[in-house]
Amino acid sequence: MSLAITYDRTGDPAEVLRVNDIGDPGPPADGQIQVKVAAFPIHPGDLLAISTPRTVHGDQATGVEATGEVILTGGQVDRFAPGNRVAFFPHAGAWAQVVNVDAALAVPVPDDVPDHVAAQMLCNPITMLMLRRAAEQHFNVGFDGVVLNNVAASSVGRLFTASAEHHQIATISLVRSDQRAEQLRDRFPSVPVVSTSSHDWVDQVRTAAAGRPIPVVLDPVGGVGVTDLLTVLSPGGSLIIYGELAGEPMSLHAAALLHSGQVIRGMTINRWFSAVAPEQRISDVASAITIATHFTQHFDVAGVYSLDRIADAARHASQPGKIGTVVVTP
Ligand SMILES: NC(=O)c1ccc[n+]([C@@H]2O[C@H](COP(=O)([O-])OP(=O)(O)OC[C@H]3O[C@@H](n4cnc5c(N)ncnc54)[C@H](OP(=O)(O)O)[C@@H]3O)[C@@H](O)[C@H]2O)c1
Repeated sequence: MSLAITYDRTGDPAEVLRVNDIGDPGPPADGQIQVKVAAFPIHPGDLLAISTPRTVHGDQATGVEATGEVILTGGQVDRFAPGNRVAFFPHAGAWAQVVNVDAALAVPVPDDVPDHVAAQMLCNPITMLMLRRAAEQHFNVGFDGVVLNNVAASSVGRLFTASAEHHQIATISLVRSDQRAEQLRDRFPSVPVVSTSSHDWVDQVRTAAAGRPIPVVLDPVGGVGVTDLLTVLSPGGSLIIYGELAGEPMSLHAAALLHSGQVIRGMTINRWFSAVAPEQRISDVASAITIATHFTQHFDVAGVYSLDRIADAARHASQPGKIGTVVVTP
């Protein structure tokens, strides 16, 4: 018996996800390792994939990232041996007890990185690195330019702030509640935080920028809020959209872009394999491991659940106000 989380229709993840015996995965093929999964994260993107309406044929595997212990190796695998701890991403069907994974997608986990950190040490840090590279394409980021980091209390948002501080990139954090703002001030005392719950938040952002340009806004929300974000973005600046939390179309008058030279661009880790050079990917993975080792305190865990409580875990993962990632231990 080998259990995995699957769904056979799209909908509310708390309702459609189920624990399914998918049977023994069989021996790993050449180039694969067999991993006994110790923990996996529930990312907003996982929940979106399960809830986005579409026709589903049969049981769909879930999850893309996990950590665990190598229990078998297939042929032509010399990087790993049974007993090694690994993290892997992206592997469709990571939410399972035992998986055969392409060894090229796995990375070793340092001894001092606990499972709950290792479970989330690839997708979010690599996303953050892609965002930082996109931001640094503006010549004044890292000099007098300030990056406005919307949804800064999220897992990706906190990693971005920590990394930007380390690389001396000025940022302003934007959140949607005073409570979240207070938590971020405690965590990053030297980084200004503004809450969109204040009616004058646009003025507060300008005050925090203190006359410096804001050439980049990072935004995983989209929706109608985009218009306000563009009002604080400098002429010629980039609004980088990397999520769709608003769940609604962006509404924007053409004149907003016409007269400002501003650019709206999307960024997704799904293009990491297709659009990022192999050398850069190797460097990103090494950086992700370093980030997990040195910024462990920013890999907060919102809750830990057993496999049979997947519905509770999914509910928690989409709950407003949580800090950190929900982790499941199969
Ligand atoms: N493009 C990519 O490749 C990529 C990769 C990874 C993540 N992402 C995206 O990055 C975003 C953050 O992911 P995460 O794992 O860091 O999230 P997380 O830790 O689960 O945090 C979610 C955050 O979203 C906020 N939020 C939810 N709905 C919102 C809304 N409508 N308006 C404003 N804020 C809202 C919550 O704020 P409260 O605390 O106020 O509830 C919370 O801070 C997600 O959209 C995710 O899909 C994109």
